[in-house]
Amino acid sequence: MAKKINVGTLISGGGTNLQAIIDASLENKIDANIVFTGSDNPGVSGLERAQKADIETFVVDYSKIISSCKKGINDADLPEDFDLKEIQTKQQLVTSDTSNEQVAFFLKSRAIAEKKLLDQMSVYDMDLLVLAGFMRVLTPYFIDRINTTPGKYKIMNIHPALLPSFPGTDGYGDTFSYGCKVGGCTVHFIDYGEDTGPIIGQKAFTIEDNDTLDDIKAKGLKKEWELYPRCIQKFADSL
Ligand code: GRF
Repeated sequence: MAKKINVGTLISGGGTNLQAIIDASLENKIDANIVFTGSDNPGVSGLERAQKADIETFVVDYSKIISSCKKGINDADLPEDFDLKEIQTKQQLVTSDTSNEQVAFFLKSRAIAEKKLLDQMSVYDMDLLVLAGFMRVLTPYFIDRINTTPGKYKIMNIHPALLPSFPGTDGYGDTFSYGCKVGGCTVHFIDYGEDTGPIIGQKAFTIEDNDTLDDIKAKGLKKEWELYPRCIQKFADSL
């Protein structure tokens, strides 16, 4: 077996993708060790899945942080190395019809949360960060502090649609509403946009005329559990 890579994971919910990656790693199907699981959401069952597998966990409670930011953000609350102009120029998450004030609030509040994530992660030696159902976008503040080698992507995400179709939060819902006859999932690297980074792997499934949204989600998740470990192995093989 090749040298194992250290993988950090971030989740927001049930963690069935995390479980698939834990299983593949414990069964030596991939050359990867999971070194931590972080969540933006306290009390989710994905954290229990990690703890059961003896993986260290932490929570950065985004909702709490964002609510507190809504009461006002002082410069002292921001990370010392936060540069609003730089992040604003790089970011491709918020469109031009959003006011400057809203964009600034979004970037500042997320950077405050992201700094806490980075602090928690800093104690681990990590080759790859895997977003396994992490339902928060990441700003250039965070991305630039993980992707420190130019041209080398180190953050992977799974998206519940065949990108570039149906980016956003409801890939299977959008696939269903559009009446697609094929659905799928995509693993891609994270760049400054939402679901726009280079594609690593995809899996498709057929949608029958009488399939419900729940059928589509079930078919899709099954494909995700196969695809994610494979893409992590592809990354490990590329090092
Ligand atoms: C998956 O469908 C994933 O594609 C999406 O959120 C869902 C997470 O499921 N981003 P789980 O937490 O891995 O069970």
